[in-house]
Amino acid sequence: MSEELNKEITRRRTFAIISHPDAGKTTLTEKLLLFGGAIHVAGAVKSNKIKKTATSDWMEIEKQRGISVATSVMGFNYGDYKINILDTPGHQDFAEDTYRTLTAVDSVIIVVDVAKGVETQTRRLMEVCRMRNTPVIIFVNKLDREGRDPFDILDELEQELKISVRPLSWPINIGAKFKGVYNIYEQGLDLFTPSKQTISERVAISDVSSSEVDRLVGETDAAKLREDLELIEGVYPEFDKDSYLRGEVAPVFFGSALNTFGVKELLDCFVQIAPSPRPVQAVEREVDPEEEQFSGFVFKIHANMDPNHRSCIAFVKVCSGKFVRNANYLHVRNGKQMRFAAPTAFMAQKKNIVDEAYPGDIVGIPDTGNFKIGDTLTEGELLHYKGLPSFSPEMFKYIENADPMKAKQLDKGIRQLMDEGVAQLFTNTFNGRKIIGTVGQLQFEVIQYRLLHEYGAQCRWEPISLYKACWIESDDDEALSAFKKRKYQYMATDKDGRDVFLADSNYVLQMAQSDFPKIRFYFSSEH
Ligand code: G4P
Repeated sequence: MSEELNKEITRRRTFAIISHPDAGKTTLTEKLLLFGGAIHVAGAVKSNKIKKTATSDWMEIEKQRGISVATSVMGFNYGDYKINILDTPGHQDFAEDTYRTLTAVDSVIIVVDVAKGVETQTRRLMEVCRMRNTPVIIFVNKLDREGRDPFDILDELEQELKISVRPLSWPINIGAKFKGVYNIYEQGLDLFTPSKQTISERVAISDVSSSEVDRLVGETDAAKLREDLELIEGVYPEFDKDSYLRGEVAPVFFGSALNTFGVKELLDCFVQIAPSPRPVQAVEREVDPEEEQFSGFVFKIHANMDPNHRSCIAFVKVCSGKFVRNANYLHVRNGKQMRFAAPTAFMAQKKNIVDEAYPGDIVGIPDTGNFKIGDTLTEGELLHYKGLPSFSPEMFKYIENADPMKAKQLDKGIRQLMDEGVAQLFTNTFNGRKIIGTVGQLQFEVIQYRLLHEYGAQCRWEPISLYKACWIESDDDEALSAFKKRKYQYMATDKDGRDVFLADSNYVLQMAQSDFPKIRFYFSSEH
């Protein structure tokens, strides 16, 4: 292993910030960039946050998504560390994009609003983190506003996110009376002064029982802080970095992103404890980032919505070795050798052509349809990285051809959009009709528009009432064929030809589960 490679890997931190919309992800991202010197004033980030007012106008959303290519990956240096933040769409109709982005990160920061606690989208995203044992740090935000009791928030985090928590900082009051946080990890007191641009001052405290604390926050609050800290030490085990790295314990920080408060503490702890790129499991074997030979996989494809520029950007996560511009790489799925003359990376808000990239880095490759989500690039080895399983969509519609002259275009368009990961396709085995499944209504509009403008194909949606798509398996072939026979009208195959049972109600699903005990029902394609 070369020393240079090892050094570059150890200093990299690649992560995503996830939250329910409005908890403060964009604000926190911006403040982290501020600390990294990647931007100079707050308010400079063109976030890909989609304003609530625009929810019905998906073209506007796509425009904003277009802008967001620039912020898809935000790389910057912080001290000796190279940090890559992978942005995730704020709009829940694009949750699939977020799931996929989570396959390319080594850790995650979850932002929770202190008043609202754990919300639906956070819960769902946490499930994906749990499946992958992704280490998680939680930032409880908006302490400058009235909110819930911090102990209640901790209980809720444990219950709702199904992970043990360990506070590493602790707030002194909340809302109008918020005075600051005590940093348990570094034993210091950060006093709160509301400000969007400046950074709070740290007062080093040798011991929380010192009278300095009484002087700074007042006797009553000092007494409460000591009491709280005692309780914390009694209830929560010592913070253990290895448990965090295994995804078993989530350290919790409190602060206010808008006021740049508690953010530096979060970042400083993050770079120390968060993992650098770790070994990645391919189908064939585990691949160590420190291996000399380059390998990587496509986790996201960003289509250009401008019909004059049909190209896409394929985002490749480097998993091992060094990626080099213009080198020959094997596109494993189609067996082709490829060279990339204009790979881009994202540093300090600028997209630049890069000559090399290291594990943990994301490279943007201009593409004209060669890539699918999950494609692997190597120096010759036949490796296949395991992608993220497909989850059962939430909404289903039949897709029908509205222009008989353009059947081929429609087929091609559907295939390519599915490869890009816009939605999931199921083909009913009984009547051959195609069913598109999405997580939100918007994708149907996006698909219809893109089929017309990019492929010249017209589609029509027809309703189908479905509850869930379940991937089914059994060790007993007879039981499997009996099931398929009984449910023939509801059987389909996914894009990889796997058997899927389309249950039209929860009741039907439960009945099927009890009538066919030898069949295993899964709500994701990998189990
Ligand atoms: P998101 O990306 O998770 O959707 O959230 P975002 O950062 O856009 O924050 C949502 C709203 O919460 C924003 O207000 C933002 O200013 C506010 N916010 C974020 N952090 C804090 C905090 O620590 N304290 C307080 N009081 N507010 C916070 P907005 O009015 O929706 O948007 P804007 O007009 O301020 O951009």
